[in-house]
Amino acid sequence: MQESPTNELVENIKSRALDELHLTSSQSDLIKWKTTYLGRKSELTQVLRSLGAVSPDSRKQIGASANSAKSELETCFATQEQILKNAQISEELESEDSIDVTLPGYQIEPGRLHPTTQTTREICKIFSSMGFQTLEGPEVEWDKYNFEMLNIPKHHPARDMWNTFWIDQEKDSEEHPILLRTHTSPMQARIMEDNDPPIRMVVPGKCYRYEATDATHEWQLTQIEGLAVDDGISFTDLKGTLYEFAQRIFGEERKVRFRCDYFPFVEPGVDMSIDCFSCNGAGCRICSDTGWIEIMGAGMVHPNVLESVGYDPNRYTGFAFGMGVERIAMLKNGINDVRLFYSNDLRFLRQF
Ligand code: FA5
Repeated sequence: MQESPTNELVENIKSRALDELHLTSSQSDLIKWKTTYLGRKSELTQVLRSLGAVSPDSRKQIGASANSAKSELETCFATQEQILKNAQISEELESEDSIDVTLPGYQIEPGRLHPTTQTTREICKIFSSMGFQTLEGPEVEWDKYNFEMLNIPKHHPARDMWNTFWIDQEKDSEEHPILLRTHTSPMQARIMEDNDPPIRMVVPGKCYRYEATDATHEWQLTQIEGLAVDDGISFTDLKGTLYEFAQRIFGEERKVRFRCDYFPFVEPGVDMSIDCFSCNGAGCRICSDTGWIEIMGAGMVHPNVLESVGYDPNRYTGFAFGMGVERIAMLKNGINDVRLFYSNDLRFLRQF
């Protein structure tokens, strides 16, 4: 510092600093300015440092004016910094890549019901119009309901018909095994156990099978169980109800066929087929040239099942049926692979 500090010098520094501050137009200009006028080597700092060489009277006066100039410059610096920041924001908003808040927003695509849910609802609605109540049951189930009360005792070979996911259990509870239900039939036993006839109900829900997947088999599937129990229910009621259902879901021109089949919890047991809607029964790829497509298992509730829930089989009779919802959805919509349902491919799901 060559000059001795004076009030004029402080005023001169301040005035130059303010002039230059108003000319700054960027962040880097501001940094340079701050170093020059407020930094450790700035003129104003030198003035404050050299006050010792000034007479005590002048020192007080010059010191006060230098400190006041410094704080004024700091305030002006902060203001200019904010002005430049605001200018930068407006510039960005005006530039091409900025957000135009006046544009309409993106429309969120509305979700839709999964094809399995749509078909489940359609089926339950048809049965509801025939007086069947819709109920749901547990997917994690006791062996007792999934097998034993359905006339399938332990070690019975019929258990092989349902490849089962067993749940690991503590050793001391092993005599009451737990599993993922392999079908919705356990709800037959649960409902009858808790209610007296008359019963008319359908039970939609997920089931699980420990089996290899292919175009018609998934390890997770949806079934709808049906059960009607009352005084004097006969096989004719079963046929009439399921025929009505088939016509409502697949079209009035459909024919149905019942053939003997084996399920331990019904006697007699049947499988029900519809005539192929693609070839009208002539034979094609969809029906494997048979003219018929199987859609469910059914039969008259076995007397042993009625007894196991405390009903008198000499008084009550009933029919039961169980269908695979994905298979029905496949037939209705021409879907050729059941694995598409749960592979989360939006190209598939958006078609429904
Ligand atoms: C049963 O599960 C019996 N509980 C049905 C029943 C109920 C019979 C009441 C008599 C009285 P089944 O294993 O056949 O039967 O399965 C019924 C339907 O579930 C089949 O017709 C098929 O549509 C569907 N299904 C079975 N396994 C699979 C699978 N792995 N993937 C997709 N759908 C399946």
